[in-house]
Amino acid sequence: MRLDKFLCECAFGTRTEVKSAVKAKLVTVNGKVVTDCGFSVSEKDEIFFSGKRALYSKYVYIMLNKPMGTISAVTDKEKTVIDLIEQVPKRGLFPVGRLDKDTEGLLIITNDGELAHKLLSPKKHVDKKYYFKFSGTMPENAVSLFKEGIKLKDFTCRQAILEIISENEAYVTIHEGKYHQVKRMVRAVGCEVEYLKRTAFGQLKLDENLLPGQSRLLTPKEVELLK
Ligand code: URA
Repeated sequence: MRLDKFLCECAFGTRTEVKSAVKAKLVTVNGKVVTDCGFSVSEKDEIFFSGKRALYSKYVYIMLNKPMGTISAVTDKEKTVIDLIEQVPKRGLFPVGRLDKDTEGLLIITNDGELAHKLLSPKKHVDKKYYFKFSGTMPENAVSLFKEGIKLKDFTCRQAILEIISENEAYVTIHEGKYHQVKRMVRAVGCEVEYLKRTAFGQLKLDENLLPGQSRLLTPKEVELLK
């Protein structure tokens, strides 16, 4: 494989970025600086990029702090979450599940269809935790209503954990991921979600250093948490 392609697939940057790094003599192959982007390499070669070992991986896993106003899709007439990804070539990437256009927070972006399928499988009941601001007054028994399973028009939610943290803020952890689920559950107890942000997906927590719109590669430990 060409050196520049290999580096891209190791998630060191876009083709243009890795090409300029190679030309700037930041890349070594088996101990020697290589400035030819088309140099042929394989997984057996010892390749360093700015002093970091390049380990080839077929799959990439990215944590995005989704900003409001973006669409959880690969392509759309409006700006998508994939448009925000800069670390690796966008080809083959997709979001694991969906957040509403006006929802912020943790969204995993990957090209690993098998893992995505597992994480989204209704049988797996992967927990999703959300922080939300609401208007209206939470009924006194809201926590137990959520625990018992809120009844919506078309289905009854599994038990959910509601933690009220102030007059107008709360966390909720749900085990499914139905359309507008949190907004509908909150509406079912007489309140209205005014702001919604996903803070955790399974064991994985949103990195609070990421501003809305920013993303980073998951560490190998974080990838393990998802598997
Ligand atoms: N529940 C919602 O209502 N919206 C989301 O984006 C995610 C969960």
